[in-house]
Amino acid sequence: MRKIYFDNNATTPVHPEVRKAIEPFLSDQFGNPSSIHWAGRDVRKGIEDARQEIASFFGSQPLEVVFTSSGTESDNLAIKGIAYRQGNAGKHIITSQVEHPAVMNACRFLETQGFRVTYVPVNRYGIVEPDTVREALNRETILVSIMYANNETGSVMAIPEIGTIARDAGVIMHTDAVQAAGKIPIDFGQLPVDMLTFSGHKVNALKGAGGLIVRKGIEIEAMSHGGHQERGRRGGTENVVGIIAMGKSFKRLGTGMADEVAEVLRLRTKFEKGLFARIPELVLNGHPTRRLPNTVNISFRFVEGEAMLLNLDMMGIACSSGSACTSGSLEPSPILLVMGADPTDAQGALRFSLGWGNTDADVEYAIDAVETVVSKLRALSPLYPSTKEAKAR
Ligand SMILES: Cc1ncc(COP(=O)(O)O)c(C=O)c1O
Repeated sequence: MRKIYFDNNATTPVHPEVRKAIEPFLSDQFGNPSSIHWAGRDVRKGIEDARQEIASFFGSQPLEVVFTSSGTESDNLAIKGIAYRQGNAGKHIITSQVEHPAVMNACRFLETQGFRVTYVPVNRYGIVEPDTVREALNRETILVSIMYANNETGSVMAIPEIGTIARDAGVIMHTDAVQAAGKIPIDFGQLPVDMLTFSGHKVNALKGAGGLIVRKGIEIEAMSHGGHQERGRRGGTENVVGIIAMGKSFKRLGTGMADEVAEVLRLRTKFEKGLFARIPELVLNGHPTRRLPNTVNISFRFVEGEAMLLNLDMMGIACSSGSACTSGSLEPSPILLVMGADPTDAQGALRFSLGWGNTDADVEYAIDAVETVVSKLRALSPLYPSTKEAKAR
């Protein structure tokens, strides 16, 4: 069976150059990076080189990069790390209604610890209006955490504007850039942002490694207490292989991102245009242009996203639906609902996220497959013909 991977926002394949770069660290470069002997020193150099590469990709200083196990851990470290360190100054946090569970659930946890959280809404494109953040600020606010780009729709937030609002109010600003990093240019050095989350497995590196960039001078409480690793900000022997892999990925992107992104955007545009030209009754979820170059989220009216997902899987196409299975019933994506989507449209939504390695042939095959599956499912839908007839009348 032909296999087409259009789920790069979930995770990405490991790039061959990354695989090559980690090989020595799976064999002779095995030391503990905290050891002072030769075996440790070699590995320490590998980690510090990776830190340097990542800092140079994001425009930060190397010492501002804290390695963690994931985007999720980085989000928790940023949010709880500020709450526990700055909680005496105030107990109010601002985030949005479309954050990843890593941010959302860290905030919900803090609500059980005496913090108050404002979840600002989004507009119909899934974008936070900066004024809503301004209006939510109060004397108690210690942190604003707004994602750079949304994982389901790809909509890109106005982080420079929101960061400026936070900075003018003297409030610390965090952004979850797990989906944005490597897809759109980010210059931490120029951004009015104090902390930024990234993750290795979204950029063709490995699962189980991520990082948090913490601007010099911003103090966070460690969430993992142990050794002195990561300057006391995250105890635990480093995931050496994962870090080396991330270093290599961001090094590659430092020189090759513009070309890679242009190619992915070309393929996504072709895919999106093909679907809209050939299949009626589609709704684009997310912003038409202010969107990650690889992502397209579409509601296929009169079909269930989950049914489409399974049928496409049988044809070798991997994509994703935002719906969650709660006690046997399929709930539409909460992200699309807070954007104001019709609940039945939200139920028929699929996310296709392209990436490195996709080709024109993939796109052409996928357009044909989606058209076939939609026609098949609509033919079974009691609602579809009656609506068509109603329109024809
Ligand atoms: C926006 C966003 N934040 C955080 C995460 C979590 O990252 P990780 O899988 O590395 O824990 C994801 C993963 O899907 C994400 O899309």
